[in-house]
Amino acid sequence: MHAIAGFISLLGGLSLAVAAPTQDNITDDSHFFGQSPPVYPSPEGTGSGAWASAYEKARQFVTQLTDEEKVNLTAGYNADNGCSGNIPAVPRLNFPGICVSDAANGLRGTDFVNAWSSGIHDGACWNKTLTYQRGLHMGGEFHRKGVNLLLGPVVGPIGRVAEGGRNWEGFSTDPYHSGVLVYENVRGIQAAGVGTSTKHYIANEQETNRNPESVDGLDIASASSNIDDKTMHELYLWPFQDAVRAGSVSIMCSYQRINNSYGCQNSKTLNGLLKTELGFQGYVVTDWYAQHGGINSANAGLDMVMPHTEWWNSNLTDAIANGTMEASRLDDMVTRIVATWYQLNQDTDFPSPGVGMPADVYAPHDAVMGKSADSKEVLLQSAIEGHVLVKNTNDVLPLRSPKLVSVFGYDAVSPDISLKKFQGFSQTIGIQKNHTLWVGGGSGANDPAYISAPLDALQLQAYEDGTSLLWNIYDVDPAVDSTTDACLVFVNSYATEGYDRVGLADDESDALVTNVANKCNNTVVIIHNAGIRLVNNWIDHENVTAVMFAHLPGQDSGRAVVELLYGRSNPSGKLPYTVAKKNEDYGSLLRPTQPESPYGLFPQSDFTEGVYIDYRAFDQQGIEPQFEFGFGLSYTTFDYSSLSIDQINNGDTSSYPPSAPIVEGGNPHLWDDLVEVSAEVKNSGSVDGAEVAQLYLGIPNGPVRQLRGFDKVNIPKGESGKVEFKLNRRDLSTWDVTAQQWLLQSGTYQVYVGRSSRDLPLQGEFTI
Ligand code: BGC
Repeated sequence: MHAIAGFISLLGGLSLAVAAPTQDNITDDSHFFGQSPPVYPSPEGTGSGAWASAYEKARQFVTQLTDEEKVNLTAGYNADNGCSGNIPAVPRLNFPGICVSDAANGLRGTDFVNAWSSGIHDGACWNKTLTYQRGLHMGGEFHRKGVNLLLGPVVGPIGRVAEGGRNWEGFSTDPYHSGVLVYENVRGIQAAGVGTSTKHYIANEQETNRNPESVDGLDIASASSNIDDKTMHELYLWPFQDAVRAGSVSIMCSYQRINNSYGCQNSKTLNGLLKTELGFQGYVVTDWYAQHGGINSANAGLDMVMPHTEWWNSNLTDAIANGTMEASRLDDMVTRIVATWYQLNQDTDFPSPGVGMPADVYAPHDAVMGKSADSKEVLLQSAIEGHVLVKNTNDVLPLRSPKLVSVFGYDAVSPDISLKKFQGFSQTIGIQKNHTLWVGGGSGANDPAYISAPLDALQLQAYEDGTSLLWNIYDVDPAVDSTTDACLVFVNSYATEGYDRVGLADDESDALVTNVANKCNNTVVIIHNAGIRLVNNWIDHENVTAVMFAHLPGQDSGRAVVELLYGRSNPSGKLPYTVAKKNEDYGSLLRPTQPESPYGLFPQSDFTEGVYIDYRAFDQQGIEPQFEFGFGLSYTTFDYSSLSIDQINNGDTSSYPPSAPIVEGGNPHLWDDLVEVSAEVKNSGSVDGAEVAQLYLGIPNGPVRQLRGFDKVNIPKGESGKVEFKLNRRDLSTWDVTAQQWLLQSGTYQVYVGRSSRDLPLQGEFTI
């Protein structure tokens, strides 16, 4: 047995010394109380507010179930269909069962569905309405396929580790930004009658050691994300709070451990934070195979196991009979699950679970149309707005009637056109070799109805406007025709579930850019990036005239980028993360935590940086980024003026929120608006455009600046628009560990409004 680092971090703010965990007790929460304080019993869903009628029906339903039926409803079974997981039917009560499926960017593993933009791309749009619409249309596809629960959206990982393999599935490295968007997304998807399972709860920040594994006969537990209570609230829990407030009917608990207890068996995070503090009314479902114990997981607040369970089954009823578990806990689990079915009106007029989704898509099946023609506009717009222009020397973009455009890089082309099949495209860790990247890998790899690759869309453009095209897709040092007006270099940066990334750049792509730039004085680089992509090897090359982070646009990728390159759309995206000048600038948050050498049986990942990730860390340490969080260029310019700050709500400045019964999301007074800020933004350039005005707040005793508002406005050239931000009690508070409350801070709050986290022309203050 190797020594275990004795890091102790307490959610409740206590400080205890505990013995190092041993291999014998890793599946049992009860051995880790010293690290993740126990919260029992598991609170029953109250069925308050908007849930009243659904709970009433569910309670009535549950009274009619046998014990065996109850237990069956709490765990998945193999239904031999294309759903990621299934809950069995109860035919005698006309309950058809439940189908749950991935993912947050489109329905996976089936036909007749669209591949939507991924979370990072949606985050880069900074457009609340679009995020809602994207969710609504995507949700409609799941509905038509009989999927009761969409396994998303993702707000964990939030992106603590720069090389995190799944950061692209979430919206942003900022909790406020992520929270605003998850709220809209959950509401949009659920407005289509499909539930959301906001995931992965919580602190699922790296793929390395996300699951327990056996190496050379030694059982290694998953990594433990060790987080203090303040950081938990102000960073990791924040967006989940917004998801719960939006009514997310399910929350997916995560693979890794939190303060040494497994995510799906952690009574503090499930019973405590989620079900007590946030008043969550829905059900907690495991990530796939993330259950590591039996009765303990039920008592810790877990409600449903996927894709099946070895531990529950009749053991639950035995446990009730022998007093280990209360019968009321099982009833609560089932009530929560069935209530969501009523809550979303899935008891009326809902297709059969997983209709037209066979396990093998090549098996005979009915063609069930998920996609709808009326989604086209939202699909394209959400692909367009997630592109972020970061360099545009002498306004080389948009292209103006070019005679000849040369295209380089395999990222410009469709996947192997000899075979389009489901999730069958080749993937290499680090880059997506041989074809364009529209999505990352793993359970979030959606299935497109078609792919518009950049070169495909350029061919259509050439047909329309007479542009001539040359292309050389695979050479790393291609020749360049001297009459070329613009060289478009397409590169990508891949990431997938299951692995953290091997780097934030790759030599082959960097060589391609530099080689083209050495021969072509108008080199435009487009990067499809599943996460942060460094550009320091060539960003200052004088022939690299324009650079666009194109993220993961989904199936309309090529069409979207050509709209922007040719100026039919004006870029309006902004970075939802910080691009550093070099790897080292991310410090210890560049790479995932590795288990101790040679084997750490209980890998510990200490979140000692607190809330100082991404731009907060760069600001704190005075590091100049290459491109800061919130940055993005347009083909026009915007001027800021007329900052106004008003304290409202009768000047309510009591540091504690007024007490009130907990509703979904927590104390409802956290959402009382206390300050209103507005400013004027003028489009001072020569084309129409949209600006994302951002508000950052310097809260006394907090980081120098934190995002606390954003407003995207379309402004015609020469005109002005008003941007408005409302700051509520939570926005202005910090989490007080002793009081166990969000408290306003007395002192002077600094207000900054502008174009990015570092370009903030308007400044003001108010005092509480
Ligand atoms: C992933 C989840 C996903 C689930 C079902 C897991 O491996 O972590 O995000 O929803 O599989 O496919």
